Amino acid sequence: MIESVNLTKFYPPPIKSLFDLKSLRDFLGKPREKIPALIDLSFKIKEGEIFGLLGPNGAGKTTFCKIANALVIPTRGNLYINGYDSVKEHDKVKGKIFTIFGGERDLFGLFQWRVSVEKNLKFIAELWGIPKVEAENRINYALELLNLKDKKNEWYQKLSAGMRQKVYLALPLIIQPEVLILDEPTVYLDVFTRREVWNAILELSKEFGTTIILTTHNLNEAEVLCNRVLIFNKKKIAEGKPKELIEKFQTLKIDRKLLVKIKGKIKIEDFNGIAEKINAYTQNGFTYLGIYIKRDYLKDILAILTNYDVVDIQNEPVTLEDVFTHICSFDSCVNSRAEEKS
Ligand SMILES: Nc1ncnc2c1ncn2[C@@H]1O[C@H](COP(=O)(O)OP(=O)(O)O)[C@@H](O)[C@H]1O
Ligand SMILES: [Mg+2]
Repeated sequence: MIESVNLTKFYPPPIKSLFDLKSLRDFLGKPREKIPALIDLSFKIKEGEIFGLLGPNGAGKTTFCKIANALVIPTRGNLYINGYDSVKEHDKVKGKIFTIFGGERDLFGLFQWRVSVEKNLKFIAELWGIPKVEAENRINYALELLNLKDKKNEWYQKLSAGMRQKVYLALPLIIQPEVLILDEPTVYLDVFTRREVWNAILELSKEFGTTIILTTHNLNEAEVLCNRVLIFNKKKIAEGKPKELIEKFQTLKIDRKLLVKIKGKIKIEDFNGIAEKINAYTQNGFTYLGIYIKRDYLKDILAILTNYDVVDIQNEPVTLEDVFTHICSFDSCVNSRAEEKS
């Protein structure tokens, strides 16, 4: 089990110049203005779950992953991994977790650039104490699953960013850690590669029961992969199953999305005051509308639409993206800078 208890991190402000009096004071003493990255974040993750940490850029996702690896020390609070404090008892945790940081960033310097993919993987498997034959089997299985077989003799250096990310994803399939932390695992990937990565993540969860923490700002990804998600921006905003969050959001009667195709042009002003948001474009004599409305206004919208030559109308399901866009615009999540209270 993983438990985050009031996890809080404030970074010191950047030093502008040692000649600047304020910077010098911050550098020498206890900086007064601090940059919040995590504020009192508490949650639990059960064994075998795929848990999504969902937040916009700067929410504190990478900071969380760094604390799990004792790369960053929290200002207060604790992160327990299988009962051990991730920082204070790092030696007990480090063999159990494996982390992949966003993009193809090789933060731990695992890969040799002028060495083939296969040799790199064999070397890392050896470091993790996996017996030779077993390692070979696992490497073949991982390369097959990730569609990387034809790259196994290629130098790591020659691979594209997407390929490198996939090679990185081969590692948890080979090492089979108890806990896998993926920091924005598909961040620069094209849609096809993204699907391969998703498959690998689901396979890990299904085959090995790996507990997976996945950070992302891609809501579709969270919806597809995660059993539960925590939406946060420094502070917790919401927590639950992706579907439950969407339902909760629906009961708030905040959102309904209508996609409408109309012959001819429309007057956008007609929808003033009843649509929350409206997107429109015209093509080949048709106007395409995306209308976000509060449920109570559905009748009014339909009444206006009767004035037009409506060719098609669709009621789109609410996605996690809608939930996210809405709740993340609440004030609680906009504070990018704050003074530490304690
Ligand atoms: N080493 C650092 N020094 C100062 N501020 C930092 C540092 N790392 C991150 N931050 C700040 O902490 C906040 C959270 O950053 P981060 O954890 O990287 O968010 P995310 O991964 O969700 O984009 C941001 O405001 C970021 O600018
Ligand atoms: Mg990040």
